[in-house]
Amino acid sequence: MADKIINNLMEDLKDIKNKNELMNIKSKYIGKKGLVSILMQEIKNLPVEEKKIRGSEVNMIKKEVENLIDSNLKRIESEEINLKLKEQEIDVSLPGKLNSLGSVHPISQILDEIIDIFEGYGFQITEGPEVENDYYNFESLNIPKDHPARDMQDTFYLENNNLLRTHTSPMQIRIMEKNSPPIKIISPGKVFRCDSDITHTPMFHQVEGLLVDEGVSFANLKSILNRFCYDFFGKKIKTRFRPSYFPFTEPSAELDIEWKNKKDETKWMEVLGCGIVNPKVFEFVKYDTSKYTGFAFGMGIERLAMIKLGITDIRYFYQNDLKFLKQF
Ligand code: DAH
Repeated sequence: MADKIINNLMEDLKDIKNKNELMNIKSKYIGKKGLVSILMQEIKNLPVEEKKIRGSEVNMIKKEVENLIDSNLKRIESEEINLKLKEQEIDVSLPGKLNSLGSVHPISQILDEIIDIFEGYGFQITEGPEVENDYYNFESLNIPKDHPARDMQDTFYLENNNLLRTHTSPMQIRIMEKNSPPIKIISPGKVFRCDSDITHTPMFHQVEGLLVDEGVSFANLKSILNRFCYDFFGKKIKTRFRPSYFPFTEPSAELDIEWKNKKDETKWMEVLGCGIVNPKVFEFVKYDTSKYTGFAFGMGIERLAMIKLGITDIRYFYQNDLKFLKQF
């Protein structure tokens, strides 16, 4: 009897493939209405002497059935794990997802290039504050409170007589206050004006230049700036100096550079203001105006970058469009 049940069970277990089938078999033998359970119930009706013998016999069968089911359950579980591992095998030799690397912003690249060139001419590099006060941004540059030149620069005013510098020219004063001639510096940095169109952004970059010594002339200024244009753009670049007005230089000029606009038309673009330092500015820093002269310039970096990189709208630089930025 016991052998028969166990043999049948082993036969049943031979080709089961998953837990479900195993559970069906389990209930066929030891479920509530399973074969072994029925045997158990039948014991109740036996005479007392037989009950004991039969009871231990059925118990042994039950144990044996449970053991067989248990060992088969373990077998199926480990088969299932192996199958899963096989299906989800990781190919460690596959190339992973690469993190995309950032790059230096085109304006920073252009600034580095400009700084390198002026360093080559023997200029020293200085940097100054973006939050300025009225004295450095205007007053000491010969732009008094009621001067119409203040209208040329749409200023972002802050509290306590502070403002966001509208140009890098305040650095001329800061440098001269702390140093005696000869001076030969450039000062790159951010400047701010309330202005936005294809050639203006509210924040942009300038490089200020200042050279003070005995006998500095407009010819020196022109030659340095022309030389810079050749070195920066290449010898084919066309430049033009145009008379202009700035309160802190006299005479003053603007430098235009030939470029091609969106419609491929050849145009001139103003890229910098310059001139011979106005003696009134020297008086603010107590320089001897009978002994020293100087020249100064302030160039717009975004504009130089537009011409050099062939970009037709200055605002592209600050839209953070990766498709645009990744070109550089
Ligand atoms: N600061 C002027 C501006 O932002 C540019 C400029 C003009 C700077 C003449 C100079 C200069 O140093 O000499 O419009």
